[in-house]
Amino acid sequence: MARVLVTGASGFIGTALAPRLAAAGHTPRLLFRRRPAAAPPGDVVEGDLAEPATLAAAVAGSDAVVHLGAATSSGRLDPAVAYRVNVGGASALIAAARAAGCPRIVVMSTQHVHLPRPGLYGVTKRVADRLFLASGLDVTILRPSLVYGPGARGVFVKLAGLVRRLPVIPVIGPGTWHLRPVFLDDLIDVVVATLARRDVAGRTYDVGGPDRVTYNEFLAAICAALGRRCRRVRLPIGVSFVLASVLERVLANPPLTVDNVHGATLEAPCDLRAIQRDFGPRLTPLGEGLRRTFEAAA
Ligand SMILES: NC(=O)c1ccc[n+]([C@@H]2O[C@H](COP(=O)([O-])OP(=O)(O)OC[C@H]3O[C@@H](n4cnc5c(N)ncnc54)[C@H](OP(=O)(O)O)[C@@H]3O)[C@@H](O)[C@H]2O)c1
Repeated sequence: MARVLVTGASGFIGTALAPRLAAAGHTPRLLFRRRPAAAPPGDVVEGDLAEPATLAAAVAGSDAVVHLGAATSSGRLDPAVAYRVNVGGASALIAAARAAGCPRIVVMSTQHVHLPRPGLYGVTKRVADRLFLASGLDVTILRPSLVYGPGARGVFVKLAGLVRRLPVIPVIGPGTWHLRPVFLDDLIDVVVATLARRDVAGRTYDVGGPDRVTYNEFLAAICAALGRRCRRVRLPIGVSFVLASVLERVLANPPLTVDNVHGATLEAPCDLRAIQRDFGPRLTPLGEGLRRTFEAAA
């Protein structure tokens, strides 16, 4: 039982994590940039990863931190903001944790760090991972593949929205790159289990679902779960980069970002051997997870 500070508490993963921490007997302390209108399941603390001075009070009195907050690939990424939030935020959180005597940090990283040519998101998350691992704190890093489940924002929610709305789904490149979509509930189980395991400090785990699928197969599974025909149109990679950068310039919430294109061009390994060895998590089959996702949203 611990007081657990959650950064990124308002996001896709954070919204699902808070009640599960409370159910596991922890006291969640939820970091929000702005106080939310509806009371979430936990104490709210205000702070901004890009404003180091705001983090000391947020971390003070916490036994552990789950670090989810990030400038992610789901929206337009400004380079200065990505570095300030993802890299500066990591340094600031490490300093605040040291000052507060809070040794345990579970960091949510990404498969993008494995890409040989990562975009801004992958580069900044990779630098942050290195800072955390070199911090001397009891850090465990989780690197999920694409996370899917019920929610109101994030990469999957946006993709499912496109599949629902568009008569033809655009696919970046041939769509033959692989991913291991992981069900949100399963990832949360791993986070909660990791908090209870100080012996896994210093370790890094890829986290993915049991089904390794191509992007085309993932889209087909989403269509099947929604009971829709899956008609795809292929966008050449070069065109996708140009389109994404134009969309990022003109839209606050673009349906495609440059970092999405980076993620769709190269294979990331998502090697489950370490997580299976140390945690043996229950991993929901993709078809079942998608069915539960859309049932929850109905
Ligand atoms: N979803 C996936 O498929 C996936 C896959 C792999 C890794 N991850 C990682 O998992 C973590 C959570 O992802 P998610 O899908 O939940 O992301 P998300 O829905 O985009 O949420 C991002 C969270 O970060 C917060 N944030 C952004 N800038 C901040 C700042 N300057 N200070 C404090 N908080 C800030 C956001 O707060 P506001 O509400 O104030 O914007 C929000 O709570 C991220 O680190 C991401 O890299 C996600």
